[in-house]
Amino acid sequence: DLWSIAPGKPSMEMFLISAILAALLLAPFALKTFCPYAWMDLLYFGDLVRILVRFVSRRRRRPLFFALDRFLEQSSAHPDRPFVVFEGESYTYAYADKRSNRIAHALRSHRGYEAGDTVALFMGNEPAFMFTWLALAKLGSPVALLNHNIRSKSLLHCFNCCKARVLIAAPELKEAVEDVLPSLMEQGVTILLMSKQCDTPGIEGFSDKVDQASDAPLPRSLRSQITFKSPAVYIYTSGTTGLPKAALVNQNRLLTALVVLSSNGVKTNDVIYLNLPLYHTAGFIIGFIGSIETGSTIILKRKFSASQFWDDCRKYNVTVIQYIGEVMRYLCSTPKKDNDKDHKVRLAIGNGVRAEIWREFTRRFGNIQIREFYASTEGNVGFVNYAGKTGAIGRVNFFHKMLFPYALVQYDTERDEPIRDANGLCLEAPRGETGLLVSKITDIAPFVGYAQNEEQTEKKRLRNVLKKGDLYFNTGDLMRIDEDNFIYFQDRVGDTFRWKGENVATTEVSDILTISDCLKEANVYGVQVPGHEGRIGMAAVTVNKDTPFDGSKLYDHVASYLPSYARPRFIRIQNAVEVTGTFKQMKMKLVEEGFDPGLIQDPLYILDDRERSYKPLTAEVHSAIVSGSMKL
Ligand SMILES: *[C@@H]1O[C@H](CO)[C@@H](O)[C@H](O)[C@H]1NC(C)=O
Repeated sequence: DLWSIAPGKPSMEMFLISAILAALLLAPFALKTFCPYAWMDLLYFGDLVRILVRFVSRRRRRPLFFALDRFLEQSSAHPDRPFVVFEGESYTYAYADKRSNRIAHALRSHRGYEAGDTVALFMGNEPAFMFTWLALAKLGSPVALLNHNIRSKSLLHCFNCCKARVLIAAPELKEAVEDVLPSLMEQGVTILLMSKQCDTPGIEGFSDKVDQASDAPLPRSLRSQITFKSPAVYIYTSGTTGLPKAALVNQNRLLTALVVLSSNGVKTNDVIYLNLPLYHTAGFIIGFIGSIETGSTIILKRKFSASQFWDDCRKYNVTVIQYIGEVMRYLCSTPKKDNDKDHKVRLAIGNGVRAEIWREFTRRFGNIQIREFYASTEGNVGFVNYAGKTGAIGRVNFFHKMLFPYALVQYDTERDEPIRDANGLCLEAPRGETGLLVSKITDIAPFVGYAQNEEQTEKKRLRNVLKKGDLYFNTGDLMRIDEDNFIYFQDRVGDTFRWKGENVATTEVSDILTISDCLKEANVYGVQVPGHEGRIGMAAVTVNKDTPFDGSKLYDHVASYLPSYARPRFIRIQNAVEVTGTFKQMKMKLVEEGFDPGLIQDPLYILDDRERSYKPLTAEVHSAIVSGSMKL
């Protein structure tokens, strides 16, 4: 591994020097080819080099320098600056440092904990989440970030797959822990509840022990066995099927991840609004770890609330917000207000916002710079839209691609696999067409995989992609690159279906639906129709209270934004759209339920091209479709 070379060896310098030389030699060529964005590309290359140099110099420090050490630097540089503000309470860097010392000491003296044990953290967004993580980092213990919405079998599965020995839970999750208690006790797990006491046998109150523990710094020797390959955190990624997988984030990756906010222009005096779950990459790595690097203040929210969003931004002078696509969509669908542009937010960082929502967002909330980027918890390639092109997630950059080779390959959405030629190699997607993003697994772009799950890890590896014997990471993401080299996210594999020979991207359709006047949320999927290939579009939606469902208005909206094959043929009106912790919508059940008015209680509508409207779907129409007498 290139990064683990001993200090003093010349290879790293050689690498950088040759990269810079290559850049200089190729610059005129690049300027010509990538005009008019060449300047931005060069600037971005400059950023890349700066990031790399900083990273390499950190990697050379002795004793080893980890993400935690950056926090320690910040807290000694400005102990009195607020680190996190939560529900009106402000906690300084010094407080976070001391509180995490106490937690660490209390745990260290607990007989149920041994040095280096993996600890599972089962807690919602609150400062204690951050303090506990810091404490465990100080002890050199890997932390499994459990999703606090999961229960029973799923909870046990997640707990077990990273071999945790200790569970630390928030008081409000006591019942969820009790549910799985017999099984945990059988395994001899130490279970600590962050409350003063707990009456349930097998679960110990922990916070009184923390209150009484020393706040003295912890000896660095406790972390002396940690290397850059040691696991730092486990983050669970949920697929569309099966149980969550624990992606192993090692110390090296966490160190790399420090720069995510600083490299996008976030500064020390920025105030960051963090409302995404801390158990996921967006909240934990980008929001939390990212602001450790910049030394900023985090305004932490228990959860996202569209109605409180801007009031919070005004109240706390928030300058940077974090988003995922759904957040932007929910914000845009709140009722308009006179003070929509009255705030200090200057930068929005995140991923998954569509061009239409992006435009609507800046129209409505003012001149906020949007930094859309692409990255995944376990993946080995990332992009950032440094040129500010609406709707793009990034840009093909010659230098970036030299360092991190990737390709878009043609994908068969029916068979759910890349298309291969006679020699068994993948075919690169022609420019402008959608392909699967695959990125070469190399020393500087490693793929660590999932804990205790070689099968799922192997599934993400793709061999013989462009040459016999090569090895790529399969991102599972479908992308498109336009004539100007901008990269657009199209869909997750599995989130597309085919109809009349065309791929329909469900998230795109649902974004279009939710910017219509009457719909609030939309979950789009494909359903099978007897006698038809592929799947036809269907949307489970919720309707705005003040604007009732209007079939012909919705038809006009859909027809003006979507090609005919992508227009949802069936609409199912629900009281609420079921979502998971990251707003990923639950589709499997809806797909199975289909569009039969005899089975579904919710009102169903069908798109009627002749009437230019969505009409109620009656039992007669349903049977005409099923019998084939009505063509779709
Ligand atoms: C926000 O900024 C205003 C004006 O700059 C200042 O008066 C106010 O105290 C600030 N509020 C917070 C919570 O920092």
